[in-house]
Amino acid sequence: MASAVLEQLSANNLFDLRGIVAVVTGGGSGIGLMISSTLVANGATVYIIGPQQDELDRLTQKYNDAATQHGRQGRMYGIQGDIRLKSEAKRLADEIEKREKYVTVLFNNAGILEGSFNPPTEPTAASYIASHFDPITQDHFNNVINTNAVGPYWLTFAFLPLLEKWKNSDDPKTKKFVPQVIMTSSMNGWTKDSNTAGRSYPYMFSKSAIGHFTSSLAHELLPLGIRVNGIAPGLFVSQMSAPGIIDPNTGASLLPPGTSHPFRVPTVPSGSIRDMGSLALFLVVNWFVNGETVLIDGGTLLDHPSSY
Ligand SMILES: NC(=O)c1ccc[n+]([C@@H]2O[C@H](COP(=O)([O-])OP(=O)(O)OC[C@H]3O[C@@H](n4cnc5c(N)ncnc54)[C@H](OP(=O)(O)O)[C@@H]3O)[C@@H](O)[C@H]2O)c1
Repeated sequence: MASAVLEQLSANNLFDLRGIVAVVTGGGSGIGLMISSTLVANGATVYIIGPQQDELDRLTQKYNDAATQHGRQGRMYGIQGDIRLKSEAKRLADEIEKREKYVTVLFNNAGILEGSFNPPTEPTAASYIASHFDPITQDHFNNVINTNAVGPYWLTFAFLPLLEKWKNSDDPKTKKFVPQVIMTSSMNGWTKDSNTAGRSYPYMFSKSAIGHFTSSLAHELLPLGIRVNGIAPGLFVSQMSAPGIIDPNTGASLLPPGTSHPFRVPTVPSGSIRDMGSLALFLVVNWFVNGETVLIDGGTLLDHPSSY
């Protein structure tokens, strides 16, 4: 009896994701790739969504070759799509439905950061107008909010039928995990210091919105039995947070020497693939967390004012 319990609770068994189907938007770079590669390493079938099919194909080929070489069952497939649009959400769900019977987890992860301001040069209204008003455009707000908050709304509802099919399936392999939507929010949904948010108010607005969407959608979907959770990263080196050199082998961004950030991360300089991958695994295998956004920021919000 005890040995059966130990076997059930071993990491090998708990985190064995064979059979699950995951969709990760923006899964071909940065945080999305940290999530998608961790899922593949543990046996999942993962669809990554991004703007460029040829780039997705190059990346998935590399990961699938590596998985084959190491005898791992996980596989990665790329589908081009623009996650901002309602029509694309439906098309992407239809495309995946042609290939899979169901989806276990949707990661709404893709995001952009635009509309950054340069700090005002002096404490006058004219200086604030010159920094925060004149250079910021309506398009900055439209692009960022549509990508980071509105797109996840369309995608979540478009994928509900496939998530419901996982829940209702009789296939024994679907019994180990429950369906879920996981948003990539940000510590910047809570920050009161725009320095931690690349000094972008459009970005801060969008991340507050997705955080509130996460908890209200979790409430909304209770009758369906589909959970909704979030990941709120602090600084992870990526093309967005530290534009630099992309590692052609992994798609990860390397912090160029001498790069600094306008805020302090109290512990290590940046979150790692291990940090992000282990949190994604935790959320996928856990059944009881619902409506929660998990902050993973190395203590940054302990050091900067926030409403967290
Ligand atoms: N890195 C951090 O420190 C940090 C901190 C907090 C939160 N986040 C959040 O983490 C998520 C991932 O960002 P990241 O840092 O990993 O940056 P990233 O490497 O730039 O990843 C963003 C991904 O989203 C894709 N994407 C953007 N717009 C899209 C669209 N309209 N349709 C489809 N795909 C689109 C990008 O594709 P292309 O590259 O091909 O354009 C890219 O793969 C974002 O939601 C971001 O806000 C990041």
